[in-house]
Amino acid sequence: MTLPDLSRPGDERSRRICYCVRVHEATILRAIAEGCRSVEAIRERTRAATGCGTCRFDLEVLLRRGATSEEGGSPGKTPED
Ligand code: FES
Repeated sequence: MTLPDLSRPGDERSRRICYCVRVHEATILRAIAEGCRSVEAIRERTRAATGCGTCRFDLEVLLRRGATSEEGGSPGKTPED
């Protein structure tokens, strides 16, 4: 089964997270908002981190930020901020 491409026009204006597959932050945040709760889920949904793997840590950071905002924290901030 092939999932639809999550990227939208304008996503390229956000920070590029995955250089190998050219996935931007806005696309990853959309995947998290739509239910991805692990790096593996984001990989399957967006194909980010399916190349060299360098961006994997950035996916983990975005996941933590998403979890923080769902728990009532400040969106875009990590507990370390
Ligand atoms: S930068 Fe994402 S897999 Fe290489």
